[in-house]
Amino acid sequence: MLPQALLARLSLAKHVVALTGAGISAESGVPTFRDAQSGLWARYKAEELATPEAFLQNPRLVWNWYAWRRSLTQKAAPNAGHLALVRLQELVPNLTLITQNVDGLHTRAGSRDVLELHGNIETTLCFDEGTRVPAGEYTDDGREPPRCPRCGGLLRPGVVWFGESLPQATLERAERAAATCDALLSIGTSSLVHPAASLPVSAKANRRGALLIEVNPSPTPLTPLVDAALTGRAGDLLPQLVQQLEAIRG
Ligand code: APR
Repeated sequence: MLPQALLARLSLAKHVVALTGAGISAESGVPTFRDAQSGLWARYKAEELATPEAFLQNPRLVWNWYAWRRSLTQKAAPNAGHLALVRLQELVPNLTLITQNVDGLHTRAGSRDVLELHGNIETTLCFDEGTRVPAGEYTDDGREPPRCPRCGGLLRPGVVWFGESLPQATLERAERAAATCDALLSIGTSSLVHPAASLPVSAKANRRGALLIEVNPSPTPLTPLVDAALTGRAGDLLPQLVQQLEAIRG
């Protein structure tokens, strides 16, 4: 539970940022990248499945890896943590929801305008043009990787691979939100992967000296910097936090 003084500060916040990572989807049964590397996939290194070089070398293998992961995320449903953030968007004047997850569960839960820093596994891009190609506009015969209907280039999943830069406009919006927010919640992320891991640090250093709250069962490199570390699962703690806020707001 958040101490009363911090709860009062959070309830006065006009702009809140929620930054989420794989931990919020853990309770929905979405395996992390490494957890999904089971069975057939266990023998590959991450660099053989999730880099532009790997894709160009063996596009079908990489395409199939993402098809497999998509089949796992599609079976998952949003959990109480995702739903609490939908409610939080209704409660605070301005909530910016930033996620490192590619599973689309925030949007499926009902959150609006989610900033997906690492892309979305449901989307498909032309490797050459970088443009988005809707599902109905290409065919997958299971042998050759699908091709762009416009230029004939290879199609790839719309996720950010190791060594690639993040979508610039999305990252800029996330950075602006961190630089101006009154409070930031870091939820279910190991706070190891940059630039996402820098966002809470820049929120703390902004003019308002944003309130930092972490929700995670384990400590992270961010923990020493936060005003409150709520230790536990997002699916348990976020609904409690939202309830506390509802109560204080009457
Ligand atoms: N509720 C909250 N946090 C949880 C829960 C839970 N139920 N279960 C696990 N966690 C925490 C773990 O303690 C860990 O700190 O979630 C964090 C997950 O860490 P990572 O697997 O490293 O995920 P993330 O921080 O999202 O990784 C960032 O790295 O693998 C790449 O691109 C991938 O987007 C990913 C990025």
